[in-house]
Amino acid sequence: MNALSSPFPVITIDGPTASGKGTIAHRVAEALGWTVLDSGALYRLTALAVQRQGVDADDENAVARVAEQLDVAFHGDRVLLSGHDVAALIRQESVGNLASKIATYPALRKALLDRQRAFRMAPGLVADGRDMGTVVFPDAALKIFLVADVRARAERRCKQLKEKGFSANLSGLLEDMRARDERDRTRATAPLVAAADAKTVDSSCLSIDETVEVVLDFWSSLGFSATQ
Ligand code: DC
Repeated sequence: MNALSSPFPVITIDGPTASGKGTIAHRVAEALGWTVLDSGALYRLTALAVQRQGVDADDENAVARVAEQLDVAFHGDRVLLSGHDVAALIRQESVGNLASKIATYPALRKALLDRQRAFRMAPGLVADGRDMGTVVFPDAALKIFLVADVRARAERRCKQLKEKGFSANLSGLLEDMRARDERDRTRATAPLVAAADAKTVDSSCLSIDETVEVVLDFWSSLGFSATQ
């Protein structure tokens, strides 16, 4: 059975960087007792592996080969690359920026497609990223496009980085974030765009709890139970 003929439901949460997708996806998955896919982590892991292996990041095929051979595992908060926990390392801005750059490569996106679809399992999957509702899971039962004002997002990312012990500078982050948004939105393959059937949610003025509630309300309104 391939992922597109799977009976297991998927909720996709797409949106720009630091819009809160990851947190909301985890909380929704927790409420429903479902699995979660952080697809951005796969792009970040590829970027980190490219850096570590000294692969030329301008060589699309070489980058795609790195993705094909990635040895990764997700265990709760731990993200293992070749057996080592790199969960904090992949959150660095340098890794995120390289991830955004290599994510423009069609060969890399193709290399990661089946790996992402393999996360679809019983009883259901919440998938967050940029193209979850448009390309990876076009048959998702519910598609959310999560947006937030760029300043609110930069402030969130700044706080997040400082909490993890990294140095962060708000104006630099704002600049990086605008550049990354622009690149993610305008790339030719799988750009960041709301699926035609997505519900757009603006979280600029919503708390995490309120945003989770909005998503679960959409899910209930489709006639499904919003608890496990
Ligand atoms: O969600 P994130 O910030 O961790 O993602 C890092 C980069 O990976 C992002 O700038 C673009 C890329 N990405 C993508 O192209 N498609 C996805 N589904 C997820 C992430």
